[in-house]
Amino acid sequence: GSTLQAAASESGRYFGTAIAAFKLNDSTYSSIANREFNMITAENEMKMDATEPSQNNFSYSSGDQILNWARSNGKRVRGHALAWHSQQPGWMQNMSGTQLRNAMLNHVTQVATHYKGKIYAWDVVNEAYADSGGGRRDSNLQRTGDDWIEAAFRAARAADPGAKLCYNDYNTDNWTWAKTQGVYNMVKDFKARGVPIDCVGFQSHFNSGSPYPSNYRTTLQNFAALGVEVQITELDIEGSGQQQAQTYANVVADCLAVKACTGITVWGVRDSDSWRSSGTPLLFDGSGNKKAAYTSTLDAL
Ligand code: XIL
Repeated sequence: GSTLQAAASESGRYFGTAIAAFKLNDSTYSSIANREFNMITAENEMKMDATEPSQNNFSYSSGDQILNWARSNGKRVRGHALAWHSQQPGWMQNMSGTQLRNAMLNHVTQVATHYKGKIYAWDVVNEAYADSGGGRRDSNLQRTGDDWIEAAFRAARAADPGAKLCYNDYNTDNWTWAKTQGVYNMVKDFKARGVPIDCVGFQSHFNSGSPYPSNYRTTLQNFAALGVEVQITELDIEGSGQQQAQTYANVVADCLAVKACTGITVWGVRDSDSWRSSGTPLLFDGSGNKKAAYTSTLDAL
């Protein structure tokens, strides 16, 4: 294949990017996105604060804009994210207890229902594990009770039975890290008890503090062995030049080595689109030129 999406398709996989609605009228941006990628994630537009700015008052215009752009160009969409401690609307941030639990479940139900039949996979719960120790992250949602995650998954399944339901997190790439083990044990428990979970998303934001680990393939394989799909959901790699290019190639090779690794999404199009305030972690430079990392990624697919 001569594009990322065509090359990924040769092994039945997708290659995606995060898209910001306000950039779609930038023709350099949208033409690269349309040419190279066939799976789309809204960078912010389907999050809790964007979709429910005041309680029970849902706002889908920006999310729909991205969904419609993707679908009219023949692309699939990953939904991101139904329940998360971050980017909550102000009204939710100070809620607690049963009131918060019900508001969260209502949000999951309403948003998943709005997009019913149109989402390939939802990140139902995002970033619920603590950075160290292997346990849950403290948050208002966690304080509603340990079962908040499975409750969110059951509500999402009921609302849109056709969407794959994913748990998504960062720093879960290194098999030896306690956070990875914590998430692994949750997924194992969910599968054993019949909690509806279909996939695990690895954000894979690699940088000096959490570098690409040599056991990444082992991590993907071990999760896949639990009977879930694994997806690389927010890939970006700090660095430049041949070293960055080689790391991108290694990530692609690891996904391709695992049958249940169904696709890779990079978190933005050009370096200038990255959420990282500094650095050059993506596949296209600020002018939209292909970087060495683009070529190594394409060659590895
Ligand atoms: C980031 C977006 O890229 C930024 O535009 C926004 O200001 C903050 O969120 N993990 C996630 C993503 O799951 O939703 C985050 O996206 C990056 C980290």
